[in-house]
Amino acid sequence: MHVLVIGSGAREHALLLALRRDPEVTGLSVAPGNAGTAIIADQYDVDITSGEAVVGLVRKVGADLVVVGPEVPLVLGVADAVRAAGIACFGPTRDAARIEGSKAFAKDVMDAAGVRTARSEIVDNPAHLDTALDRFGPPSGDPAWVVKDDGLAAGKGVVVTADREAARAHAASLLDSGHPVLLESFLDGPEVSLFCVVDGETVVPLLPAQDFKRVGDGDSGPNTGGMGAYAPLPWLPEGTVDRIVRDVVAPVAAELVARDSAFSGLLYAGLAMTSQGPSVVEFNCRFGDPETQAVLALLETPLGQLLHAAATGRLADQQPLRWHDGAAVAVVLAAENYPGRPRLGDAITGSEADGVLHAGTARRDDGSIVSSGGRVLSVVGTGPDLAAARDAAYGLMSSIRLPGSHFRTDIGLAAAEGRLSLPQA
Ligand code: GLY
Repeated sequence: MHVLVIGSGAREHALLLALRRDPEVTGLSVAPGNAGTAIIADQYDVDITSGEAVVGLVRKVGADLVVVGPEVPLVLGVADAVRAAGIACFGPTRDAARIEGSKAFAKDVMDAAGVRTARSEIVDNPAHLDTALDRFGPPSGDPAWVVKDDGLAAGKGVVVTADREAARAHAASLLDSGHPVLLESFLDGPEVSLFCVVDGETVVPLLPAQDFKRVGDGDSGPNTGGMGAYAPLPWLPEGTVDRIVRDVVAPVAAELVARDSAFSGLLYAGLAMTSQGPSVVEFNCRFGDPETQAVLALLETPLGQLLHAAATGRLADQQPLRWHDGAAVAVVLAAENYPGRPRLGDAITGSEADGVLHAGTARRDDGSIVSSGGRVLSVVGTGPDLAAARDAAYGLMSSIRLPGSHFRTDIGLAAAEGRLSLPQA
């Protein structure tokens, strides 16, 4: 089976490495890829937001399966174009991808499915902003305002703050640039990312993970696209994953089927484990980054066969997933000034070791590898427990050099030290 992976991040590097371990995968291509993926797959520079361009590449490389990593091509209908060309595709249709592409659609689906989520309100008129802010945040009893871009913003469109002026400024700047704003009530409790392979009403959960969205240690500073992740979650009580599937993911998958927008691909539930039980923060229509780097490091089941089964209507016939024991930790190395405008073009050394997954990297003609994006790479460590996996990941990070770069030092630390627990009702 020849697999074409669409995307250029460390998530796609992790997907390619897991696909390469599958004995039925005989060829790998990637578009557009990065300096790390170029070593393990044939790399093509095509416009991945164009269904026509992707279908052209599928035909050129003779792909049997296309795996779409990022949300933008999915929201634009690239998976529809690949399927229409008669090629198996792991990734939802444009209709189903609205579960991520439109927060208003996601809320509507969750309401209809009876799934608990944050109270929310969309503001699209600046004249209504102040009264809407009054209905959220500290005066209303919530500890913070949650202000989101009602569209795709790669995690960076979210501001969570107890400062009304900061909430107002973020909302006003989104409205000024023509983006509707989603105000939400704050959800207490630790967050869980649960990835599920879904085909229609069949839901197969992967290991639960947790990601770290703020740029700095101790959850300080602005939101990013993700600074690290670990899996599984030692603090999550037994049976919680089954409960989330039963109460959250399966009802949403069934509701999408009922709306003629059946989901086929990776449905990612971002949840807060509140004192009232799991509550949805967001749904995404694709593998998450950087959680994928940690989760797939522990997957024993051949990934290509699993994704091909989902893409061809055979997910329900698959054996239960098999996992390696232990834990995995992914830590993101970011360029200077990320998540602001990052400094690019600096030479990176030490990035060709096993366990280093590339994202914003490019290879120069002289063979050197340089930074080309804000999130430059992820290092992944595994071990018999979280503490050992952290040691492995940070050991690897210490051998990498990139001027001005930064990373969080506390990925998985609170869990490894037993400091995380569920809030009591
Ligand atoms: N881990 C956050 C995301 O992938 O959107």
